[in-house]
Amino acid sequence: MTSAAMAVFPCGVASGEPGPHGIVLWTCLGPGAVDGGTDVPVGYEIAADPGFRDVRVRGETATHAGRDWTVRVVVDDPALEPFSTYYYRFTAAGATSRPGRFRTLPDPDARPERVRIAFLSCQDYTNGYYTALAHLAREDVDYVLHLGDYIYETTADPSFQSGQVRALRLPGRRIRAQTLADYRYLYRAYKRDPYLQRLHEAFACWHCWDDHEFANDSYGVYDTDTRDERLNYSPARRLAASQAWHEYLPTRLEFTPERGPLDALRVYRSVRIGDLVELVITDERLYRDGPPCGLGTFDRYLTPGCPARLDKRRTILGPVQREWFVETVTRSTRVWKIWANQVMCMQLKLSTDSVRGLFPWLPHLDLYVNLDQWDGFPAERERVLRAIERAGVTDFVVLTGDIHSFGAGYLRADFDDPASPALGVGLIGGSVTSANFVEMLTFGFGGVLVPPEAELTPALVRSNPHLKYFNSAAHGYVVLDITRTGITATMKAVDTIRARAARLLTLREFWVPRGAARLVRTGEGVPEFGTDDPDLSPSAR
Ligand SMILES: [Fe+2]
Repeated sequence: MTSAAMAVFPCGVASGEPGPHGIVLWTCLGPGAVDGGTDVPVGYEIAADPGFRDVRVRGETATHAGRDWTVRVVVDDPALEPFSTYYYRFTAAGATSRPGRFRTLPDPDARPERVRIAFLSCQDYTNGYYTALAHLAREDVDYVLHLGDYIYETTADPSFQSGQVRALRLPGRRIRAQTLADYRYLYRAYKRDPYLQRLHEAFACWHCWDDHEFANDSYGVYDTDTRDERLNYSPARRLAASQAWHEYLPTRLEFTPERGPLDALRVYRSVRIGDLVELVITDERLYRDGPPCGLGTFDRYLTPGCPARLDKRRTILGPVQREWFVETVTRSTRVWKIWANQVMCMQLKLSTDSVRGLFPWLPHLDLYVNLDQWDGFPAERERVLRAIERAGVTDFVVLTGDIHSFGAGYLRADFDDPASPALGVGLIGGSVTSANFVEMLTFGFGGVLVPPEAELTPALVRSNPHLKYFNSAAHGYVVLDITRTGITATMKAVDTIRARAARLLTLREFWVPRGAARLVRTGEGVPEFGTDDPDLSPSAR
């Protein structure tokens, strides 16, 4: 892009939420392109070829200061055909943006043989370069799914942001984003990254959020920034975070601030990809209850839990979303029911017996690694999974980010009973850059005592029989090659995020055969990364 075009379109371009005949296009204008606070016209065109000779859709929209000069165009037009590739670009203030590319969805009645989706999460700008995104932009996939932590509301939190590679300072040197201007600043700063821009230019994306688009370990309109819940009550901050998210990411969702912070934006939704995939996207932040055992570090992490954790009324989805979710999954007639799930659903314990060699003085304890995930809501988890079991749902796959680790395993209604049948397969994608366990150990993790990585991942696999692979030493993404006979999940990692160039490695490859709720190791992968369950040795497809 010329420097003039970069000044007009500093965020690059992006697309999202494809339909069989539609797409959402997005960009933002730079200060040089705007004049006062009045409407600035922005043209757009969508062509069938990268040279823009066969233009299918052309139009004009406008943006203004009230939406921070972001541009969102929702296109649904019969001139766009299903499951086809298109190119788009914007014009404004005499400049033309770089082109972007997207693929429409197959018709809902179509029977596609194959769809490829990459999923990613957790891109803390300060912790590294987006080398993984540079590689992902070159992958041969149809769509991308972002599971959240697109931004981080803090830029130097000592508990997980001490390994600074790229400094970012909030306006006024604030410790954490509080206002709409702060959140907008963060999206603009992140969106300037050239590798993130390449990713968005290459593929349409579905977005959901996790906690850091608002506040760490947030729930409803509460952050967890202090140990006093009254001080953590932050409805205006929640609304500001939701507004900036809506302005800066290309979705079809409507933002209605008059409804208040809990109802302004409904993020949970389902997408049908031909008869092959029902992609069910949930919101595990807005309707959830708070931490069950208190707000202290050891009330939330590496904790044996407390009786309140088991309270049957506790919810992470909220009753309305829960009912919608169970109905959507159990009634779906699509081959694969794929759940875009923000926080880890599979139980994740650390048994002190598994680290006995390191900490011989510890009594026998089963510690939950993190109660901010579904382990803080075990009754609702069992309720949902039992409903899926009763309905006889097959080919159920759960995709998760948040934990900054790669992993694979099985969903069970009762995780403490290894004989409880596998109801589906869980695939966990590592972070793009956010601190993994190794980095937290290297750069400090708020003084929390945890075993070294070489001991930690084997201990986690030993402590969780349903977990077949775990690795918290790498960064990257997962590519799903979804067919009518099975899914190949390829976990890919970069060899560094601390330099602008990196090599891409295939960490692991799993085959999930249709009709079996089974994970099969295929390919060799990089054995020195992570820990595999010995039961799951590589075998031919
Ligand atoms: Fe994260």
